Amino acid sequence: MSSLAPHVPASEDAVRKMLQFAELQIGEQLYDLGSGDGRIIIMAAKEFGVKATGVELRDDLVQLTRKRIEELGLTQVEVVHGDLMQAEISNADVVTLYLTTSANEKIAPKLKKELRPGSRVVSFCFRIPRWEPSKTMRLGTRTLYLYIIPETENLKV
Ligand SMILES: C[S@@+](CC[C@H](N)C(=O)[O-])C[C@H]1O[C@@H](n2cnc3c(N)ncnc32)[C@H](O)[C@@H]1O
Repeated sequence: MSSLAPHVPASEDAVRKMLQFAELQIGEQLYDLGSGDGRIIIMAAKEFGVKATGVELRDDLVQLTRKRIEELGLTQVEVVHGDLMQAEISNADVVTLYLTTSANEKIAPKLKKELRPGSRVVSFCFRIPRWEPSKTMRLGTRTLYLYIIPETENLKV
């Protein structure tokens, strides 16, 4: 297992914007790959009514996330301790990423292979190289990218 990005948490405002940008529907399944302290999965479940799973490499952050989930009494949220490259994500409706451009490049073939057509991928700050976003939004100096997995194989990875 190797770290693909440092732990730099997104601000609360950025997290809310990411989740709004993904147009989450109640009951959908979200994965945050590299979930840090769990802020995305926790807000997704609390404010948007989705099932949310985080995948995080660092044990201290996994423990912190589990503590927060327990304190809040959330039942539709979990965090898996492990490498995001090995995560089971095939039932995702939405995947959120806040990693790096090179990490996105590494994970792109997995997303393309495992996600269902129509699933959405939201990346904060960093593009997925060679994928065409269906929507972008500026957040100050940063950008949100939304990608939709196509029906046909037209994403180059
Ligand atoms: C920039 S932080 C984003 C945290 C959170 N998603 C957020 O937006 O606040 C990236 C996170 O990815 C985790 N990470 C890096 N490489 C990973 C890997 N191979 N598998 C799982 N998590 C990883 C880091 O430990 C870190 O917590």
